[in-house]
Amino acid sequence: MTRRKLLMGNWKMYKTHTEAVDFARRLAERESELPHGPEYAVCPPFTALASLGAALPRRVQLGAQNVHFEPQGAFTGEVSAGMLAALGVRYVIVGHSERRHIFNESDAWVRRKVRAAVSAGLIPVVCVGEDLRQRELDHTLRVVERQTLAGLAELSPQEAASCVIAYEPVWAIGSGLTPTPADADRIIRSIRDVVAAEKGEAAAAAVRILYGGSVKPDNIASFTSRPDIDGALVGGASLDPDSFLQMAEAVAEGV
Ligand code: 13P
Repeated sequence: MTRRKLLMGNWKMYKTHTEAVDFARRLAERESELPHGPEYAVCPPFTALASLGAALPRRVQLGAQNVHFEPQGAFTGEVSAGMLAALGVRYVIVGHSERRHIFNESDAWVRRKVRAAVSAGLIPVVCVGEDLRQRELDHTLRVVERQTLAGLAELSPQEAASCVIAYEPVWAIGSGLTPTPADADRIIRSIRDVVAAEKGEAAAAAVRILYGGSVKPDNIASFTSRPDIDGALVGGASLDPDSFLQMAEAVAEGV
């Protein structure tokens, strides 16, 4: 089973749609420098999805940062999976720690959002990870196990196999701190074991599991060159096309 490495940018609440198009143009000018092999995606705010989708190089996929679980209805401020799919969105981040912690998103909501995303033909990127207190209490494995099981709960083994999971320790996000690559690798392997126990060996062998949290051009390869780490989910360092290209090269070299 070969899993294709994935470099995904999560832009969070940065960039207007015109700034997003500027990123895409600058990346498109240097498309020949984008190595073949890994897969690439960027997830802008909702307001930039349409214009960014039209401007991105063909080899860079479009992703969204959130989705609602109902197909339509009186849900002011929400966007459905079908609406995203209609815009050409391929990936959708679900259960990012900022959604869980700032917007009180529960495991039950994450479960329903993942189900809705898959039903609409999107690939969910299910985020899991412990906060600092949970890490200090040595609860990391139980936290990521619970979040993984909840996220995949309504999926068949085949559906789970095509998902992406992102292991993002909350304390590593935007802090400049990271676990050691060996530590991230160990936790990602235990997430894969959880998938194996629940959805079978074939799903576990196929599901891609990324590392995220303070990934930069100079540390990305130390994570993504490991066989069990299938790529990276990158915040701040994905906002600049030069830095995105440097990370693409680093991921490709480790393939
Ligand atoms: P940073 O790369 O800015 O630490 O953010 C990580 C993240 O939250 C990606 O989803």
